[in-house]
Parts: sequence; structure tokens; C-alpha cells
Amino acid sequence: MNLSLSLRFKVTLAVSLLLAIVIFTIAYSVAVTQKNFLIRQISDTRERTLRSFSSMCNEAVKYGKEEQVESAVNLLISTYKPSVVYSGYINADGGIIYSSRYNDVNIDSEFKRRIKNFSKERSESYVSYGGEQIYEMGTPFFINGGQYAGTFIIGFSQTAMNKHVATIVEDMIMEIRKVSLIVMTSFIVLAFFLGYFMFVKPLNLLIKASEQITEGNFNVEISVKRHDEIGKLAQTFNNMVKRIENLDSMKDSFVSSVSHELRSPLSAIDGYCDLLIGCVESNYENSKEQLEKGLQIMKQATVRLTNFINNILDLAKMKANKLEIKIAPAEIEPIIQEIVALYQPMVLQQEKTIGYEISGEIPELEIDSERIKQVITNLVSNAVKFTKKGGSIKIKVLPSSPGYGTDYIEVWVQDDGTGIPKQQVDLIFEKFYQVQESEFKRPKGTGLGLTIVFEMIKIHKGYIWAESDLGKGTTFKFALPKKSYNDSEK
Ligand SMILES: Nc1ncnc2c1ncn2[C@@H]1O[C@H](COP(=O)(O)OP(=O)(O)OP(=O)(O)O)[C@@H](O)[C@H]1O
Ligand SMILES: [Mg+2]
Repeated sequence: MNLSLSLRFKVTLAVSLLLAIVIFTIAYSVAVTQKNFLIRQISDTRERTLRSFSSMCNEAVKYGKEEQVESAVNLLISTYKPSVVYSGYINADGGIIYSSRYNDVNIDSEFKRRIKNFSKERSESYVSYGGEQIYEMGTPFFINGGQYAGTFIIGFSQTAMNKHVATIVEDMIMEIRKVSLIVMTSFIVLAFFLGYFMFVKPLNLLIKASEQITEGNFNVEISVKRHDEIGKLAQTFNNMVKRIENLDSMKDSFVSSVSHELRSPLSAIDGYCDLLIGCVESNYENSKEQLEKGLQIMKQATVRLTNFINNILDLAKMKANKLEIKIAPAEIEPIIQEIVALYQPMVLQQEKTIGYEISGEIPELEIDSERIKQVITNLVSNAVKFTKKGGSIKIKVLPSSPGYGTDYIEVWVQDDGTGIPKQQVDLIFEKFYQVQESEFKRPKGTGLGLTIVFEMIKIHKGYIWAESDLGKGTTFKFALPKKSYNDSEK
């Protein structure tokens, strides 16, 4: 629960932070743009005001109506206070008409001094005697085709303008702040719920499933029907659980196989030892045949134990790449003949048949004959083991199958026995794997035979695979390279 809370908190915090940064950046750039726009607008208005008042004065001067100039100058101050600090007019003879929102002699004299210098169009910023930042604009005007008639000037207050702009921007920021707060709150709520449904809920399912697995229950499946990373994680998790379940049942079958493989020969040896001891104590009262049978069974049990231990040791060596192999040129046929001869009595006894068939030209191979014998023996032993009474086992050798390439020879070990369920065919080469099938009562083993076969073929740079039809039989096929093992090493 702790994790879910903190994760939800983290997601919400991250989203809110991101959002705050975005909103701040937008608000800042909007404020800057708006400020620049306002300043541009104000300077345009100033320009227009100067033009319209100077043309008004120009008309008045042209018709000798200076009192109209005076009212225009006064009108300007009364209309545009506090933006306009002063406005004024000086005629060609030096007569000055002006109006100011200050009633100060110092400013009077300053204005008069400045207006006298305005014989051509110009603008200038300065700090007035009253300490106000002023932007002064002036334009001279002419009558009768170029005769200088006077200058009109206006002093705009920069301080008033800045205050005006600042108030507007501040209002705007306040508005943005209000909207941001609403947006942020809605987003935080949204992020909180989104975080829960997108991450926390599926993660909780994962946590619950993991807890069940820890308790040994592998019958769990997470149902997250999504195609994003979370969906993939759930799918991988489900696959992992299946794999663990397989490994767990493999471990169980290993434990039961190992205990069976160790116990049954040991109890046979133990039982026959008692028989032999009894025989010695009773001064060989038992018949010679009984003694011989007892010794033979003990011998078989010892061979079975030795084989089992050798299999485990071989596998460990193969996994550590420490298995020694002796590669030499060898024919495959004598190896197969020997195996068939070895299995013939047992197969006959079980009322089954075994035979082999060589087709085409099979070259001499570069192999470790003993190891390849071990491979075919393991496959034949399985075929015999998993075939019912009356079944047949065939070993075939082919130069290569069509479409597989010509650099290999193939050996097939075919039976018409119990077969392997399709979905388990790829698993049988795994260590300790034994097919779980209730329909057939399968004979016991350790599940190591095919793993050893697989590793041996790999060492020979070959391939092995199985084809099977449940209830109809199985064919194990392996391919060995025709060229020399040492050549392919290079
Ligand atoms: N010819 C076959 N027909 C049907 N099932 C087979 C055949 N060969 C192998 N299998 C299945 O594959 C499993 C693994 O075979 P593998 O040879 O590795 O182990 P095993 O025969 O059970 O034990 P081991 O060979 O170690 O004594 C077998 O338990 C069996 O279920
Ligand atoms: Mg086997």
C-alpha cells in the first residue's frame, strides 16, 4: 500500500510540476508580448495625437485664430491628463502658448527654454525638473508654401505610461493566475486518477500475483489487456509464471525420478545381498541358478546406478564445457548394428521389433563413436520404453533430407509408440523434463537422456529435433555434418 501511495503521489507531483513550468512559461511570454504590444500601441497613439493637434493648430494659425490654438492646447491637457504633462505652441515671432498639469514656475521656464529649440521635428526623453520621466515630441509647421509658422510640442509622461502598462499586465497576470489555479487543480485530480488506473492498479495486480507465487501458488494469471509497456510487462510476467511452474514441476519430477532411480537398484542390491548372506549361512543350500540370478540382478542394479550417476556427471561436464571427446573417422553403420544387436533380445522379449535401414551413400564421419553410440542408445532406449507390446522401432540413416542442405547426414529413430503432446515436444530436451500425460502410464526415468543427447549433438556441431503424433508415434531426427569436425572447428 505504501508503494501505491508514494507512486501515485510521485506521478501527481511530477505532472503538477511539469504543468506549473508550462503555465509559468506561457504566462511569462504572454505578459512580455502584451507589454510590448501596449507600449507600441501607446507610442502610435502619441504619434497620432501630435499629428492631429499640430494640424489643428496649423489651421488655426493659417486663419490667424490663435485663441483656437490656446483652447486646443488646454483641451489636450484636460483630456489626456495624466498621460500628457504639457503641450504648447511657439509662433514664428517667439510668442508662446502653453498648458501644463504642473503649476510651477521652474517648469514654466524649463518648458519655454525647451520649446525655443524646436525648430525641426524631433523627439527626446528626459527627466523633468519635477523628477518625472518625460517623452517629448515636437513638430514645426509651415504656411504659404514653406514659411515657418511655429512649433507644436507635447510632453508625454513615461512614468504614467509605465504605471498604466504595469496595471494592465498585473491585471492580466492575476487573471492567468486564477485560470492556472483552476487548470492545475483539475489536472492534479486527473493525474491522481490517471496515475491510479494507468500504473497503480496494474502494479497492484502484479504485487498480488507475486505474493501468491511466493506462497507457492503458480496458478495465477494477470489480465491486463493493454498493448503498452504495462501490457507487455504483464504478458512477460505471465510467461515467467508459466516457466516457473514448468521448472517447479520439473523439480518435482526430478526429485521423484532421482529417488526412484537411486532407491530401486539399491533395494534390489540390498534384497539380493540378504539372499546371498542367507545362502552362505545355510552352507550353499540354495541352487546354483538362484545364486547366479541374484548376482546378475545385483550387477544390473549396479549398472543402472552407475549409468544414472554417469549421466548426471556427464551433464555437469557438458554444461561446464569440460566433457572430453575423441574425434576420429568412423562409419555409422557398425555403431547402429551394435545397438540393434544389444537391444534385440529385450525387444523380442517384449514382443516388439527393431531394425535399421541405410539409404544412399553415407560417407565416413568425423565423430566420437562412443558418444554417438550413447546418443543413439538413449533414443532407442526411449523408443523401446515408450512403445507398447507389438510396436516397432526403426533406425534410418539418410544422406540428407531435401531442402536441408547436403553437408549433413541424418539419423532417424522412429517408433509407433505413445507419442508426445504437440505443446510438449519442444520441452522434452530440457533437463529432468518428463511428459505429463495421464492418458498413458509412462515408465519412469530421470529425464536426463534427451538433455545429454542434445548436448552431445551440439558438441558435434549437429542438430536434433523431434516429430510426434500423440498416440501414433515419435521420430527423433538428428543431423551430423559430413565434413570433418576439425575443419568446422577452424
Ligand atoms: N520415443 C518417445 N516416445 C514418447 N515419449 C518420449 C520418447 N522419447 C522421450 N519421450 C518423453 O520425453 C521425456 C524425456 O526423455 P528422456 O530420455 O530425457 O528422459 P527419460 O527417458 O524419462 O529418463 P532417462 O532417459 O534419463 O532414463 C520422457 O520422459 C518421455 O516423456
Ligand atoms: Mg530416456
